Amino acid sequence: MVIPIEFTKEYIEENSPKENQLFSGFLKSGEPYKSIFKNNPWLIPPDTSKPLEWGKGMYWDTTVARKHDYWKDFDLPQPTKDINVMRQNILEWGYCLVEDAMSEEQCERFISRIHQQARGEKLAGVNAKSSTGQYLHSLINKGQVFRECIEQNPNSVQAGPLIEQILNETLGYGWICHSFLSNGADPGGYPQGMHMDQGPLLPWVTEEAPALFNTMYIPQDVNEENGGTLLIPGSHKIFMEAGSGGEIGKLPPTINLEAKAGTIMLFDGRVFHGTGVNRTDKQRFVATMSNVKSWMRQQENWVLTVSPEVLKNASPKLLHRMGMQALTYGSTIEGFGMGSAGKYNEASGLIKNFRIALEEGKYIRVGQLSEDSSEEELNQEFTVSKIYKLNKEELEG
Ligand SMILES: [Fe+2]
Repeated sequence: MVIPIEFTKEYIEENSPKENQLFSGFLKSGEPYKSIFKNNPWLIPPDTSKPLEWGKGMYWDTTVARKHDYWKDFDLPQPTKDINVMRQNILEWGYCLVEDAMSEEQCERFISRIHQQARGEKLAGVNAKSSTGQYLHSLINKGQVFRECIEQNPNSVQAGPLIEQILNETLGYGWICHSFLSNGADPGGYPQGMHMDQGPLLPWVTEEAPALFNTMYIPQDVNEENGGTLLIPGSHKIFMEAGSGGEIGKLPPTINLEAKAGTIMLFDGRVFHGTGVNRTDKQRFVATMSNVKSWMRQQENWVLTVSPEVLKNASPKLLHRMGMQALTYGSTIEGFGMGSAGKYNEASGLIKNFRIALEEGKYIRVGQLSEDSSEEELNQEFTVSKIYKLNKEELEG
């Protein structure tokens, strides 16, 4: 077989110098990080093979806003229950603090489950380590309280309805969960590198609105001592103004987030932030549930990770938030889901029964077929042909 020379690896390489590659000026610009680090070397992440340096003005070496020389006179977001104030805070500063979003009892249930789980995972030798501290992944399988948070159920998060409203406004109806995990800052840990959560989209900044919106559950007091999240208030605006692929000049300093147990921080996916350094002798936990548009790929592969028991008992909302409602542009299986809008309990998009068939070893895929296929091959009980009917029967009870 003679392959045309134009299709050979050597020819392609020879004809693909960097300057001829498509969109490379933009896609490989390295912005905004290139200019951020050039103009703000204090934002360069630490070398985790060396002790952390203090007293040199690095981004982790800061304090809470009210004690910060630069930030203390700014009118930064304060904890509030007022949705209109939250809207203003989000637009102006890129975040807001929902006061008492979890009641004392809800908070206690949340943090005690986190602590038990953290100890259990250590004992089982499955504790996820990061340079900042212990992480607890896939909270969906680790307690009813977390599942109810994913549903924004007032039984576990009393501000749930308000948070849903803000998410509907920022991401549009049909948004789904990107992940829900607990982020530990351990004594002796390092700060996380400053980043924006929708960073994978860079150098696109999405100048008009965020493509990801995060909800940070704060089940214990956080401050400058125990690793309160590092933030540059209003940084989303600086990125918006620079635009996609734009360069960033000198940035304002970071603060440590200060918040009481029970607060939930809502923040725009374009705000520059990172886990702070815990200088106490106790672990500090928060939990982040980021959310994305309905068709985006999720950080957590919920379709695989969710346990059979949780899946079996999941509410229509929980299934939807996991990305279990396929729609034309997301999560289709063998074409199933195309034409669906991705609504709760839409029989034409609910993919739960594919997962169950897979678990039971009964998933029969449509493979290679032709007019020469045998009767047996052609008459298989293909799963894709059965799911819609099965869904309809289940949903109509
Ligand atoms: Fe983040």
